[in-house]
Amino acid sequence: TPVKPFDYVIFGASGDLTMRKLLPAFYHRFRTGEVPGTARIIGVARSALERSAFQQRTREALESFVGDAYHDPETVTQFLELVHYVSLDAADETADWSGLSALLEDGRVRVFYFATAPKLYRKVCATLDARGLITPESRVVLEKPIGIDLRTAQDINEGVGRFFSEENIFRIDHYLGKETVQGVMALRFANPVLENAWSAEHISSVQITAAEVVGVEKRAAYYDTTGALRDMVQNHLLQVLSLVAMERPASLDADAVRDAKVAVLHALRPLTGAAVGENTVRAQYQAGEVKGEAVPGYLDELGHASTTETYAAVQAEIDTPRWKGVPFYLRTGKRLAEKVSEIVITFRPPEAGRSSGADLFPSPPRANLLVIRVQPDEGVTWRFNAKDPADDGFDLRCATMDVHFERQFRQRYPDAYERLLLDAVRGNPILFIRRDEVEAAWRWIEPILEGWGRQDVPMCGYPAGGHGPKEADDLLARHGDAWYSGAA
Ligand code: BG6
Repeated sequence: TPVKPFDYVIFGASGDLTMRKLLPAFYHRFRTGEVPGTARIIGVARSALERSAFQQRTREALESFVGDAYHDPETVTQFLELVHYVSLDAADETADWSGLSALLEDGRVRVFYFATAPKLYRKVCATLDARGLITPESRVVLEKPIGIDLRTAQDINEGVGRFFSEENIFRIDHYLGKETVQGVMALRFANPVLENAWSAEHISSVQITAAEVVGVEKRAAYYDTTGALRDMVQNHLLQVLSLVAMERPASLDADAVRDAKVAVLHALRPLTGAAVGENTVRAQYQAGEVKGEAVPGYLDELGHASTTETYAAVQAEIDTPRWKGVPFYLRTGKRLAEKVSEIVITFRPPEAGRSSGADLFPSPPRANLLVIRVQPDEGVTWRFNAKDPADDGFDLRCATMDVHFERQFRQRYPDAYERLLLDAVRGNPILFIRRDEVEAAWRWIEPILEGWGRQDVPMCGYPAGGHGPKEADDLLARHGDAWYSGAA
C-alpha cells in the first residue's frame, strides 16, 4: 500500500549518498507502488542546475545502482517526474528560499533529509523555521555521524530539538534498515532454543565484523577527520551489539525496543586509562593488493601525514548478569580482503566431566557456532558436531547448515535505505536512533578516542587486501579466541 503523499527534501542532493542510495531506494519503492505518483522528491544543493539536468543525473544513478530494475523505461520516466531540484546554499539563511517553498504543499507529510555536514544541522533547522517551512506534519532525518564527540552530539540534539520534537527527529543508522540486522530479534525471540541459550552460561564470545574492500575513495576529506571508530563503531557496530545483547523488549513498540537497546549501551563497561590500550587496536592500511591490483597505502592516497585509523578493533564487555565475562569483539576496516558484515556467536562446548558429552567421544566436541551473515548473501550458518562417517568408531567432525535467505524466501533483499526512507514518511521511528542512544554511544566511545589522542595505543599497519593487523589477532589470542574465518 502506498504511503501518504509526501514532499521529501534532500539537502546535499549532489552527494554520493543521494545518488548511490537515496534515489535508487525511492525508485525501487516507486516500482512496488509504495511511493505514490503524487510524491515530490526535491534535491537541494549549491550547484546551479536545471531540473532536467538533475533528472538526467538521477537517470544515470538509477542505471548504475538499481540493477535489472532499470530495464523498465516507462517506470523510469514516470519516476523522473517526481524528481525536482532547487539550487540553494542551505547554509545561507539570507539566500532566496522561495524556489523551495514554492514546491512544498501544505497538508502533506514533509520530510527534510540532511545529507550534509552535521555542523549545519542546527542552522538549517533555524532557517527552515524562520522561513515558515516547518509544518505540523514535518520531520527531519539526520544522517550520521551525529557530532564528533558527546558534546557536539548534544549540541546537535539540542539545536535540532528546538525546532522538531523528538518524535519528528529520525536519526538514521542504515545498519538498522538491513533485513538481517532486524532479523536478529526474530532469530532470538521467536526461537526459544536460541533464546534459552543466549547468555554467558552458554555463549563464550560474540564477534561483530564489518569489513570493506574499498578504500576511502573520494571521501578522504570526510574520512580523514572521522576515522573508523567514529564512522562505523560508534553507530553501526554498537547498534548491532545492542540488538544482539538486549533483554527481551516488552513489545515491538519503538520505545520498548529502544529502551532495551539503550540499556545495553549504558551497561557497557567503560574503557578508560590502561583499559584502552589493553582492549583496542587501531591501524591504517598500507600499500598492498586488492583483487590482483596494486593499491597505495592510506597516507599515500591522502598525500600527507595523518593519525586517522582506517581499522579499529575493540573488545567490549557488558556488565549485566546475562553477559558477565563474555567478550564482545568488534572490528571494522577499509581495504580488507572481502566485503562482509557478520555476527558470530560462539557457544561453549560441553565441559569435560563424566556426565557431559565431552568425555563420551574419543575426540572432544568443538564449539557450536551461529553465524549471522548481515551482508552480502544474507543468511545463517550453524556449525555443529556430527559423527565422522569416515570412522567406524565415534569420532566427531564439524558439519554446517547453511541457510541463504534470498534463495529460501525467493524474495529480493532490499537495500537498507528503502525501508528507512519510507518509515520516516510513515512516522515509524523503530529503526531510528533515539537521542539517549546516540549520547550513550558517544559516552562509551569518547574515552577510547581520548586514549588514542594521548597516543596510549600505537598506530599499527596492515597491508591492503589482507585480514587486518596482527595486533587484532593478538587481542583475541589472549583469551584463546580467534577471528572467524569460515565455519570449517
Ligand atoms: C557508512 C560509512 O555509514 O557505512 C562508510 O560512512 C561505509 O564509510 C558504509 O562504507 C558501509 O555500509 P555498508 O552498508 O556498505 O556496510
